[in-house]
Amino acid sequence: MDGRIAIYPGSFDPVTAGHLDIIGRGAALFDRLIVAVAPLSTAEKRPLFTLAERVGLLREVCVPWPNVEIDSFEGLLVDYARRRGARAIVKGLGAVSDFEYEFAMALMNRRLEPGIDTLYLMTAAEFSFLSSSLVKEVARLGGELSGLVPDPVRKALAERFGGG
Ligand code: PNS
Repeated sequence: MDGRIAIYPGSFDPVTAGHLDIIGRGAALFDRLIVAVAPLSTAEKRPLFTLAERVGLLREVCVPWPNVEIDSFEGLLVDYARRRGARAIVKGLGAVSDFEYEFAMALMNRRLEPGIDTLYLMTAAEFSFLSSSLVKEVARLGGELSGLVPDPVRKALAERFGGG
């Protein structure tokens, strides 16, 4: 195994400043952090950005971290993590309301693969309310998103919703 590898999974539709906060923290803790983009979000049936667009935006904004790799995966997360030689899954926790769902997923993943642990990193307080779905709603209604999403994402959202 070449160093300690962790997987940071999600739908990243689109990547927010909160995600980047977790990516920075994960990249500092592990030799390599693989940001693994799932084709579909758990919450929404149809993503706003295609898988290729979400991967592309992540690649663009993760350039500052040389030990961060962007990939996508299908099927079970634990199978992907095992294939990639990762012993840890990294997730961000912001609001208390995330907890119940995350707890169930972590225990299910442990049941499926006891050799892989899920580590929760606390999001910076200023992003604890932030989610991709709120970002999309604000963008759709023409609200201001500076500081909440990286610039390339702001541009992509403006193009998508015809704003400026
Ligand atoms: O950003 P999201 O939509 O909350 O991410 C959810 C994600 C992709 C992490 C989750 O749905 C997932 O792990 N999907 C892969 C399929 C899988 O392994 N499901 C069992 C989880 S217990």
